[in-house]
Amino acid sequence: MSYSTLLYEPRGDVVVITLNRPEKLNALNDTVISELDRAIRAVDLDSAIRGVILTAAGPKAFVAGADIADLVRQGPFDGKARAMVGQAVFRRIEQLGKPVIAAVNGFALGGGCELAMACHLRVASENAKFGQPEVKLGIGPGYGGTVRLPRLVGKGRALELLLTGQTIDAQEAYRIGLVNRVVPAAQLFAETDKLLRSILDNGPLAVRLVLEAVDAGLEMSAEDAHLLEANHFGLLASTHDMREGMTAFLEKRKASFTGR
Ligand code: COA
Repeated sequence: MSYSTLLYEPRGDVVVITLNRPEKLNALNDTVISELDRAIRAVDLDSAIRGVILTAAGPKAFVAGADIADLVRQGPFDGKARAMVGQAVFRRIEQLGKPVIAAVNGFALGGGCELAMACHLRVASENAKFGQPEVKLGIGPGYGGTVRLPRLVGKGRALELLLTGQTIDAQEAYRIGLVNRVVPAAQLFAETDKLLRSILDNGPLAVRLVLEAVDAGLEMSAEDAHLLEANHFGLLASTHDMREGMTAFLEKRKASFTGR
């Protein structure tokens, strides 16, 4: 399967997806969005792949937003359609069931910040910058920014970023909970890989159901979310992995999970 705007590189049980339009600061045009969709579907179908690092090429930008050269031509109906297509792709990332970590290597603005937020965790290089500057262009976010940002950082901070369009640096993004780690640029990949590995060492069925419980649970009543959690707890009790994880603990050895 070939891609023109991204690199899809399996490395053992992890795939590294690198958006690859550095000359346009990896802006998300319609081709990037459709190739990203194809890449995420490929991860979903490949049982050998257990996690994803999503990053972008070049020293300067993760993604500087949706491609303004595309947006400038849009009218109300194709604008809405473009938003809905992008939203569906980002939702596919969020609901993949395998951990996806964004390694944010520079500007993450507009659709770039939204893409990072659709990933489960975010590691930022020290030079990363975040923002939702859409209002400066006379639009609002279209790829879930008004939905995910308040859930991640709280309504007040989200509204400040969304309404002013201001850009914040990596330390501020860390302070408000928008990113999980800030690391020197040279260590971005290694630190992201280390974080992903610390997840993949755990029971894969448990990881998958925790992702599902948090994603679905946040949108449910607390009562329903508790029920979902209890159902997952019971379901995991039927797995070989639970016996293995607990037996390994009692035998003071490292668990060897098989995903069964
Ligand atoms: N869409 C389309 N092209 C973009 C882009 C975007 N969102 N962001 C950057 N580019 C292009 C620039 O047009 C330029 O192309 P060119 O060399 O053919 O002229 C190239 O990427 C480099 O960007 P440039 O603006 O020259 O870099 P800079 O260092 O001066 O500024 C930014 C970097 C990120 C501050 C600036 O590019 C920017 O503000 N981008 C738009 C951010 C935005 O509003 N995103 C939300 C979109 S909804």
